[in-house]
Amino acid sequence: MIRTPICDLLEIEHPIALGGMGSIYAPDLVAAVSNAGGLGAMGCHGLGPDQIRAGVAAIRAKTDKPFALNFLIFDMREDSFAAALELCPRVMAFAWPRADQDLKPILDRAHAAGCKITFMAGGVPEARRAVEAGADVIVAQGTEGGGHVSWQASMPLVPMIVDAVGSVPVLAAGGIADGRGLVAALALGAQGALLGTRFLASDESPLHPNFKQAIVDADGHDTLLSELPDIAAGKVWPGAMSRSKRNGFIERWAGQEWALRQNQASALVRVQTARKNGDIHEAPLSMGQDAGLIHAVLPAAEIVMRIAREAETILAKTLPRFLR
Ligand SMILES: Cc1cc2nc3c(=O)[nH]c(=O)nc-3n(C[C@H](O)[C@H](O)[C@H](O)COP(=O)(O)O)c2cc1C
Repeated sequence: MIRTPICDLLEIEHPIALGGMGSIYAPDLVAAVSNAGGLGAMGCHGLGPDQIRAGVAAIRAKTDKPFALNFLIFDMREDSFAAALELCPRVMAFAWPRADQDLKPILDRAHAAGCKITFMAGGVPEARRAVEAGADVIVAQGTEGGGHVSWQASMPLVPMIVDAVGSVPVLAAGGIADGRGLVAALALGAQGALLGTRFLASDESPLHPNFKQAIVDADGHDTLLSELPDIAAGKVWPGAMSRSKRNGFIERWAGQEWALRQNQASALVRVQTARKNGDIHEAPLSMGQDAGLIHAVLPAAEIVMRIAREAETILAKTLPRFLR
């Protein structure tokens, strides 16, 4: 069994975490990952206090294991954050502050509520800023990942952040979908891995079945980093683009961001309808390059167990063979 110090810090069995995904409301998925010994996380972006309370109640009805609540700092509602703090999750998972935001008071409030704090960073300066503000764990998120990401790939980013943050433990994210990815993360100096796309294609994921199948069918070469999903949604992110499948929606608007802005209202209606209908060509489909490693929709617990077992086998049997 693989155990790293982060397992003790976050009170989990396996160093495997679910990324908080604000656009995906999935208490069952959160509970399944936590029950399997990983760290589940509920994305709270866009949720009001009552929805957060209901989500946490649904998670706690299914597990008494630790889980995280995830907030995007640039767009955090005070009433939602206050409600989350009252619920005292084991972990508060933060990401995406604006450059002008003071992080310390926000992180201090989470610590005062008894939470451990993970903080996602796509670059070394952000990681240092989070550590200075008191983060307990840095999630080093490479550009291969699904959803909003920065520009640096995981392979150089993870060790650069590990070197920069000293004794603060790091979780690697972006492009990891199996035990090989977890072992690579450990070799790069991280203490575990955080995954998004792999869990989107799980039984408990609330995505439309067509979208899960689109992840399984994707070869991982067919994603694009763009602002298009955000322009259609009428949102501005603080220095991020999002990785999604290169489908009809992306092909139509790529290079024509100005035209999408002009037609934003009608494009949004089309996107929302496509989401409801499971139309994989017209709905933006967030996924990482690791979609090419995902060959079946599986129960979340099985995903956690398979990753843990495969990583163990590589560490115990495959890699030692290379030592002389
Ligand atoms: C659909 C989707 C929504 C996401 N939303 C959030 C979010 O609200 N907060 C956050 O911290 N990360 C979010 N992420 C990023 C994940 O937490 C994670 O860093 C990323 O998925 C890792 O890369 P992978 O997809 O290759 O595993 C999202 C990712 C996806 C695919």
